[in-house]
Amino acid sequence: MNVRKKVVYRTLFYLCTAYLICRIIASYLIWGRYGSDFLSQIVIFSQDPNSSKDRQILLGNQADISQSSPAINPHPYKFLINEPNKCQNEDGSSKLVFLLVLVATIHKNVGHRKTIRETWGSPGEINGNNIITLFLLAKPSKGNTEYQRIVEEESASYHDIIMSGFQDSYKNLTLKTIMGMKWVSQFCPHANYVMKTDDDMIVIYENLFRYLSSTSIPRNNFVSCIVIRAKPNRIVGHRWHVPKSIYPGEWYPPFCSGAGYVMSGDVARNMYTISLHTPFLYLEDVYMGLCLFQLGVYPSAHRQFHNYRVEYSTCGYKKLFTTHYSIAKNSVRYNVWSQMERDKQIHCYFNFW
Ligand SMILES: *[C@@H]1O[C@H](CO)[C@@H](O)[C@H](O)[C@H]1NC(C)=O
Ligand SMILES: *[C@@H]1O[C@H](CO)[C@@H](O)[C@H](O)[C@H]1NC(C)=O
Repeated sequence: MNVRKKVVYRTLFYLCTAYLICRIIASYLIWGRYGSDFLSQIVIFSQDPNSSKDRQILLGNQADISQSSPAINPHPYKFLINEPNKCQNEDGSSKLVFLLVLVATIHKNVGHRKTIRETWGSPGEINGNNIITLFLLAKPSKGNTEYQRIVEEESASYHDIIMSGFQDSYKNLTLKTIMGMKWVSQFCPHANYVMKTDDDMIVIYENLFRYLSSTSIPRNNFVSCIVIRAKPNRIVGHRWHVPKSIYPGEWYPPFCSGAGYVMSGDVARNMYTISLHTPFLYLEDVYMGLCLFQLGVYPSAHRQFHNYRVEYSTCGYKKLFTTHYSIAKNSVRYNVWSQMERDKQIHCYFNFW
């Protein structure tokens, strides 16, 4: 080997080593809610809910849940504000509900709810298929008690508020989703599809409808979202630390980004039932993934769900299902909505899915 070649190989070797070391350090630094982002990209096994080996790796001693044993995670909270007839016709018969959308919110986000009612949450039907949009709230935390009166007024005006009796807090978000699934089980068990999303999103019902009403979409055992595969954060003292005693598995089962996911009605009902037997975890998205895994349902990924902000474009927004508007002012969402209305007649050429 001549000297020049040797130098080239050696340089390459050093560069690669340096790169790897940087990646490992970086992945340690960006270790967040879930394990290292970098390592999470490499999934070493299929995470198949039907494989007993995968179940063992993921859930450890939590692997087998018996639904006949008493509930270990009961959800005893009552609905303090309710709309029990939302999914019924005037005569008390079941109303056909194509899509039920549950939006997690907190008392003080009055402006977010108003925006949603006046923009993306406003369509009550598409092509004659009913869409129902409801807000999920819990008992206000200390700073938000003054808003209780406002929420009651909103409820009287719009009849779109469900409030449950547990304390609202970030670490109780899981309870908020369980509460939504419980509501589906009790008051809207016949909904074809159920969606869970947040109050800082934009959801485009028309695009979702076109997708869900296509004949290739299953009517049962179906979940569609941004699928995340991640490990528990094991750094002791870290804000997001989840110890082995709480979650023994090396990986979490695949889960949906909590920003928005759609499921068939049976999955929503079954998730509630299985949650009663699934140990509580405050990470809402992971917890829902655990319930899905116990049910043997594998979430399918669709790239039109976004959990970051996608800037407006005429044709882009004719495909999009969800996009996040977390720190944006509500006026931005109003603008986007009026742009969409303005561009309604414009035809875009693309293959849908
Ligand atoms: C969650 O809600 C329960 C029931 O109201 C309450 O006892 C608990 O303190 C809440 N947890 C947090 C972290 O706020
Ligand atoms: C697991 O098994 C059930 C029943 O055989 C099947 O319906 C389901 O599609 C399977 N799930 C996966 C992810 O393979």
